[in-house]
Amino acid sequence: MPRPARSPRTSSGRPTSGSSSGKRAAPRGDFRTRQPAHEYELEVLPGLEAVAATELAAVPLARDVRGLRFWYPGDPERLTRLRSAVAVYRVQAWDVPRPRGLLGNQQLGELAAYLRGVVEVGGQQSFRISAAGRESAVMERLAAELQNALELPHDPKEGELLIRLRPQEGGDGWEVLARMTPRPLSARSWRVCNRGGGLNATIAYAAHKLAGQRDEDRIFNPMCGSGTLLVERALLGPSAALVGVDLDAEAVECSRANLRAAGREVEVAQVDALQTGLPARSFDLIVADLPWGDAIGSHRANAALYPEFLAESHRLLSRRGRLCVITHEIRLFERLLQEQAGQWHARELFQVYSGGHHPKAYLLHKP
Ligand SMILES: C[S@@+](CC[C@H](N)C(=O)[O-])C[C@H]1O[C@@H](n2cnc3c(N)ncnc32)[C@H](O)[C@@H]1O
Repeated sequence: MPRPARSPRTSSGRPTSGSSSGKRAAPRGDFRTRQPAHEYELEVLPGLEAVAATELAAVPLARDVRGLRFWYPGDPERLTRLRSAVAVYRVQAWDVPRPRGLLGNQQLGELAAYLRGVVEVGGQQSFRISAAGRESAVMERLAAELQNALELPHDPKEGELLIRLRPQEGGDGWEVLARMTPRPLSARSWRVCNRGGGLNATIAYAAHKLAGQRDEDRIFNPMCGSGTLLVERALLGPSAALVGVDLDAEAVECSRANLRAAGREVEVAQVDALQTGLPARSFDLIVADLPWGDAIGSHRANAALYPEFLAESHRLLSRRGRLCVITHEIRLFERLLQEQAGQWHARELFQVYSGGHHPKAYLLHKP
């Protein structure tokens, strides 16, 4: 019988703990859950590591945490509810010098048992392998063997069980990471409507957490697009008000559809965010993902839109209000902040790398 990841072994070809040393003793299973501890790793967008570490710190039973890697003896379903992570993987290492070593009888049996444990949780219907040289003869054989052992089709493009192979960090073996869910966690189940320029939901979550989550906030999301910021805020908990607007009727419908799918009632209207007609100081928090000038809008149009947006936001914000802006128009926005230094105090919340872009999030308030 192959042993779970918590049993580090060092003889050749045997699973190891997957830890950086390969020899660290694993935490024991927790008596309250009666489950063996497994080692996990979170994948997050570069730039959101600190947000994910904070969210992970609130997971009961997560222990021996090193960055985004940890041991966990609880129900893995809890990990699939993390909102800052793109994906969660179960990790196990084998003390083999090359992936070819995983093709040994014993190693294959252990690997299949480990992957079956993941499929039992995630219900994946197919699998794929991601590794350097994944089209090599070794990888093809590994795929063929796993197809038999797991009784799942190998789908190199869309396979739901994503299996990643990489050299063991700080050790001599190879690690196998298996994604716990058929789709990334960032592909939210509430997203029934997509639009070009839609924000990665983990970025929306991070922006809300770092801008501050207060029940008494009256929150405005101008230029809401598909409603990512609205849904993520509505799911975080109550607020005194939550309102979204977009100039585009289809975007308004898209936001409404996503909010319905999330089971949240939020007011969304077709309104020009630059001239809302709303009374001054209507909101305590404005959160906006402005047009970046590529998929949505243009750099030329943004040169006029951004200052008008800042003026209307200044008018709409309460005296102690906060404005959180996410944008890829970094040069334009930072120049405006310099020009308007008397109007705003600003600080950078994060810069994140996502889909070839590297937007920043800022938090502004009135001096
Ligand atoms: C970057 S997209 C927002 C994407 C959104 N965060 C999402 O996840 O789908 C910017 C949005 O601003 C809207 N927009 C542009 N100018 C506007 C204006 N003056 N008033 C309201 N919405 C506007 C566009 O229609 C577009 O939906």
